[in-house]
Amino acid sequence: MLVLKKGGCCMNAGIIGMGRYVPEKIVKNIDFEKTLDTTDEWIRSRTGIEARHFATEDENTSHMAIQATEKAIENAGITPDQIGLIVVATVTPDRAFPSVACQLTEHLGIQCAAMDVSAACSGFIYGLVTAKQFIEMNSYEYVLVVGVEKLSKITDWNDRNTAILFGDGACAAIVSKVSQGRGILSFELGADGSGGKHLLLNDENHIAMNGREVFKFAVRQMGESAISVLEKAGLQKEDCDFLIPHQANIRIMEAARERLDLPVEKMSKTVHKYGNTSAASIGISLVEELENGKIKDDDVLVLVGFGGGLTWGAVTIRWGK
Ligand code: ACO
Repeated sequence: MLVLKKGGCCMNAGIIGMGRYVPEKIVKNIDFEKTLDTTDEWIRSRTGIEARHFATEDENTSHMAIQATEKAIENAGITPDQIGLIVVATVTPDRAFPSVACQLTEHLGIQCAAMDVSAACSGFIYGLVTAKQFIEMNSYEYVLVVGVEKLSKITDWNDRNTAILFGDGACAAIVSKVSQGRGILSFELGADGSGGKHLLLNDENHIAMNGREVFKFAVRQMGESAISVLEKAGLQKEDCDFLIPHQANIRIMEAARERLDLPVEKMSKTVHKYGNTSAASIGISLVEELENGKIKDDDVLVLVGFGGGLTWGAVTIRWGK
């Protein structure tokens, strides 16, 4: 008989604690009517967004990462010195180096492996999957994964195609071994640089996007990746209890939900409050659903995202420690 114990060969990595942070300042759609040729009605109906939160000028990406991290560490019931690796998913670090992950080691008063990952809105999924590998190889006992963005600093406020879409925020997760059958059951990561031209940081350091091309890609990829990770976990779409999609546009999210034949109440929706917070969006949504009591132990979750690169990523998680 196979006896499983903590550290045994067949245990999955899973999330054992989470935190999130959104800055206080709220900007509503109507505020954009003063500066752009747009309306609250257009933004709501085409994107599902009603408001977003923006960091202040002196509130950096690292500050938001710290706030979410402290909550995740407390929620997981560990101490910072137990963390072996920090992975921070962001395309808006304070600076190229030191990385936000390195800044976190200083704040936490620890020394450990630390790196930033650049995969745009898919970054949090890339971070979780990276953590899974190191945990299941027994390299580290605890990995901190952060998704954080200050998109307001790379937004072109004169471009109505993009300015209305984005928000700032952070999420953090502690990943460690969980009991057999739970945790991250399967994953899919992908990138196709041939689509990179449709969504990029331009020479003016602003987000530039071909919305229609990104929309088409996202609708196809989100649905395909969600089905694919369920299959890889030996599950079917009927087994999915909750979908946590990247919060880019309600119409893209709805397409993924319909592909899984899930009822509306089984999909997380925070895009109306926060807009698209890129690498932070999936984690922020997951924390909110946990706080709302929508997710129970042993629920099967599908987390799926897409973003600049173009990149995509998805995981199936059976929730619980
Ligand atoms: N207000 C009013 N009109 C607008 C606005 C606005 N804010 N933005 C665009 N329009 C106009 C366009 O100029 C266009 O006018 P035209 O027909 O005269 O050219 C018209 O609305 C329709 O444009 P579409 O692009 O067809 O509008 P669509 O319904 O596709 O919605 C949107 C645009 C919301 C951008 C959509 O394409 C979308 O969500 N795309 C995906 C965006 C996304 O998720 N990006 C991820 C980025 S994340 C990252 O990696 C950082």
